[in-house]
Amino acid sequence: MNNIRCHRMAFIEKKVVYFDEAGKQNTDTLLKLVKDYLAREGIKDIVIASTSGETGAKASKTLKGLNVVVVTHSSGFHEPGENELQEEHRKTILANGARIFTGTHALSSAERAVRKDFGTIQPLELIANVLRLMGEGTKVCVEITMMAADAGLIPVDKDVIAIAGTGRGADTALRISPAHAASFFKMRIEEIIAKPRKFQENLQKRR
Ligand SMILES: Cc1cc2nc3c(=O)[nH]c(=O)nc-3n(C[C@H](O)[C@H](O)[C@H](O)COP(=O)(O)O)c2cc1C
Repeated sequence: MNNIRCHRMAFIEKKVVYFDEAGKQNTDTLLKLVKDYLAREGIKDIVIASTSGETGAKASKTLKGLNVVVVTHSSGFHEPGENELQEEHRKTILANGARIFTGTHALSSAERAVRKDFGTIQPLELIANVLRLMGEGTKVCVEITMMAADAGLIPVDKDVIAIAGTGRGADTALRISPAHAASFFKMRIEEIIAKPRKFQENLQKRR
């Protein structure tokens, strides 16, 4: 019997774009990068965070013809009973054949009420804050991928591209192997397409 192990080095080299700063100003460049990436890699499923609908509407135009899923803030995030998605952008997103999902935020959920009412942070918000070490966009990409997977709007057996930003717009794009919330730890962030290098603490997480 031959016990000699063969160690082969196998890797690929790819371009990653690091924005100087986080923020909305990176949106158009990011969407162009994603469009080129999708054409090269043959990925057809995209999940993107959009609060007002502006970024979702832009993505629905740039990435028309692909499965674009726009995930909004939950209703009541800002004001009870209200959603921040603007009608004009909702119409554009749907007219471009993209889909919209609104639901409970996967990385805060009712645990946010426990923190606000009892002052105790719970595991989901802790996970969210660890992901924020990579930037707000990374946390949101992971969260909306889970939300879209649980809504049945993206496949869980194929890679997707998740796009998100810091407060507004888009500055982060990740290639993710998705998972449902109930099997969250099976999710894999496979590649970074772009993210900001410098970013501030975002007070949104303390709401
Ligand atoms: C479900 C959800 C959760 C979000 N969480 C955060 C967050 O924790 N931190 C943050 O900076 N932005 C957060 N965002 C903002 C997004 O990353 C993105 O920048 C924004 O939705 C784009 O909105 P716009 O179309 O109005 O520009 C979140 C958005 C959504 C839809």
